[in-house]
Amino acid sequence: MKILLDVDTGVDDALGLIYMADAHKRGKAEIIASGTVGGNVDVEKTTRNTLKMWEMVGLDIPVAVGANKPFLTELNAVPHIHGDDGLANTHLDPPHRHPTAEHAVDQIIRLSQEHAGELTLLAFGPLTNVGLALLRDPEVANRLKRLVLMGGSLSGGNETPTAEANIYNDAEAAYVVFNSGVPLTMVGLDVTHHTYLDEKDLEPLYKSDNARSRFTLQLIQFMMAAYQKLGREPQCVLHDPLAGGVCLTPDLVRTEKIHVDVETRGKLTRGMTVSDRRPWPAHEANVDVALEVDAPRFVSGYLEAVLRWCNAG
Ligand code: BDR
Ligand code: CA
Repeated sequence: MKILLDVDTGVDDALGLIYMADAHKRGKAEIIASGTVGGNVDVEKTTRNTLKMWEMVGLDIPVAVGANKPFLTELNAVPHIHGDDGLANTHLDPPHRHPTAEHAVDQIIRLSQEHAGELTLLAFGPLTNVGLALLRDPEVANRLKRLVLMGGSLSGGNETPTAEANIYNDAEAAYVVFNSGVPLTMVGLDVTHHTYLDEKDLEPLYKSDNARSRFTLQLIQFMMAAYQKLGREPQCVLHDPLAGGVCLTPDLVRTEKIHVDVETRGKLTRGMTVSDRRPWPAHEANVDVALEVDAPRFVSGYLEAVLRWCNAG
């Protein structure tokens, strides 16, 4: 499976990259490139963090810089959840490699041509780059094998009462994507909130006790503390890693094909993914929505992957 990643590397994106790198090394997927977008932090930081993560996992994956700002709104960075640096305030040394000269939007278009019918686009952040690529070249929708995205929810939001953060943070781009005809799997809060790490999962990481496991623990514990400050359980929710998991192992989730559109105007509902589950929907179903997840299976597989990396260090 050929995968192009589009990421706003933040804490759970980084945890997702460790997991995807494990799949790549074990021949379960071929990550051919990555692109960055502003989201959790600005695009300069998401780019630096993505380069750094590839360096730390020992992979030479190209990183193309993408859009910093959403189509119409301002960047809505969340340092209280991901740290000022986007990586839990670990303030790592700068990466050795540099991004490629190509823009992430051009990269999506080019790779969809070079790998027509074979390329899965896996999006961990706001859909600005993907939306721009589809506006520039609507045929991208027909050339991609599938778009798997972390985003959306049919059961309430996190950024607002109704909207999930990745969709809310570029609702116009998400509108373009959901209406593009691209084969789309939505891995949203309906399932990601069931997949998390908490203190009882961390023992093997404490035992591992090396630079990699200590870094991973910093990420996880920063996220746990951030959630607790927000009044939630102290959990590190594996939003982006689960989207990666669904890409690699679709039967981790039960999906339903539903018509979903994105609200761009509502005062209380901007960024909401609105599903039409009437027996007489007004439009054809356009999204495979993940509605249930085998959380224990995913979380144990996720931890195994992370520990393979930590214990090889
Ligand atoms: C999504 O928003 C971002 O903060 C996370 O990285 C994840 O992609 C969760 O709503
Ligand atoms: Ca993300």
